[in-house]
Amino acid sequence: MISNCWRFLGAHCRRQGAARGTWLPRPRYHLRRSRRGAAPGRAAIQHERERERHMRTSSRPMAGGPGGGAAICDPDVDPLFRPIEIGRLKLKNRIVMAPMTRQRASLAGGVTEIMVDYYRQRTSAGLIVSEGLYPCPRGCGYLFSPGLHDDGQQAGWRDITDAVHSDGGAIFAQIMHVGRLSDPLILSGATPLAPSAVQPDPTARHYTINSPRPKRPYPRPQAMTHADILATVDAFADSATRARAAGFDGVEIHAGSGYLPMQFLSSNTNLRADEWGGSVERRTAFLLACVDAMAGATYPGFVAVKISPGWTFHDIFDTDPVATYSHLARELSKRGMAYLQIGDYGVGWDVYATLRPLFDGPIIQVSGYSRRSAAAAIACEGADMIAFGRAFISNPDLPQRLRYGWPTSRADPATFYTQGSEGYTDYPVHALSDPAGFEVLDPPADPIGKRQA
Ligand SMILES: Cc1cc2nc3c(=O)[nH]c(=O)nc-3n(C[C@H](O)[C@H](O)[C@H](O)COP(=O)(O)O)c2cc1C
Repeated sequence: MISNCWRFLGAHCRRQGAARGTWLPRPRYHLRRSRRGAAPGRAAIQHERERERHMRTSSRPMAGGPGGGAAICDPDVDPLFRPIEIGRLKLKNRIVMAPMTRQRASLAGGVTEIMVDYYRQRTSAGLIVSEGLYPCPRGCGYLFSPGLHDDGQQAGWRDITDAVHSDGGAIFAQIMHVGRLSDPLILSGATPLAPSAVQPDPTARHYTINSPRPKRPYPRPQAMTHADILATVDAFADSATRARAAGFDGVEIHAGSGYLPMQFLSSNTNLRADEWGGSVERRTAFLLACVDAMAGATYPGFVAVKISPGWTFHDIFDTDPVATYSHLARELSKRGMAYLQIGDYGVGWDVYATLRPLFDGPIIQVSGYSRRSAAAAIACEGADMIAFGRAFISNPDLPQRLRYGWPTSRADPATFYTQGSEGYTDYPVHALSDPAGFEVLDPPADPIGKRQA
């Protein structure tokens, strides 16, 4: 399958190259002298954009290009740069910035100035999916993460959506309710809510990651009443209304990584015997109710879902994930959603091949992609778009680097969840990057789950 894919891509590229006379085997990397740690200010980003425009429209070299000569678009990655329509949007490329919690918001869950800069720096993505935003106070699991349930939070996001749109980008809000993965210290003394009172394994060490949260096991959650469930569905719908009012192009429900919707989906966390638990149909009911309520509050093409089938991160298990997610994909397929984002975090079965035929709409695949494997997934595997997480943290100009085969810079996990601009808005664009921090081009897949499990 893979070798067929490469044969296809090779032929495709030679055809494209012959037509345009632009095919080159591989760009050579000679870099301008770098300024270590220089932040990608607006001027630098503007320069990089002008350089990209110039390369697209002119055969003459532009000062500052790699090797001092003309950088040529690499046709191997053409599939990533075909425009695509999702919902009511037309996206300029198929590169998605994956949702990533970065904990740079205020303690009240409000947007800060550096968050505006961070998103503005990354608008060359075809689509940005925001970090997870909690739809109600009980859904918060991390200090300094943003919410979307009050007027102040909503107004703050308007600055970000305006910045993204004015640079030609598009942005969805990820709505994330952590369910049992919280702590009374974060919830003003309240106990976390979950489908059933099942405590995450106290020996699991996920809560010890370098993140500002209590360094103690998650407590036993409180099982949600029927009224709690309906109120939470309403909160998801309200967050969609607020997202639209704040200028977002859509909302994505975070139904992966062991958070609340996945707690309903999974057999070890959902022990309910009522209409919200038991059979596959009932375990999927909460997520589908949220999708329907959010679509009702806005419109179906405004809503998307992210899932991580079979992933056991945060001590979550399903006795038959293939059956659960096949049913879910079929149900979601009926709803005219903007897209379904699927993470395959190395779970031992072919998640994409299983679910692709069951969902009739755009699919975003995520986790461990390089430029070549991403292009191949679109050309050969039925993916419509590819999301990049860690690479977008350290490469604000990631699409340009993928397009021209410029090397990417390594992200530093030590600053993933710290506050302030370090490791957040100070990663430079390519022309200003330190080659010592460059990664191997096209490394083998490295699903994030393998590291965190
Ligand atoms: C710092 C960090 C924070 C993340 N936060 C979220 C999140 O809030 N919501 C989510 O759906 N995924 C989150 N993820 C997972 C990413 O969206 C993505 O699926 C994962 O990084 C795999 O993609 P990659 O291999 O390109 O990094 C996070 C990942 C990282 C590295």
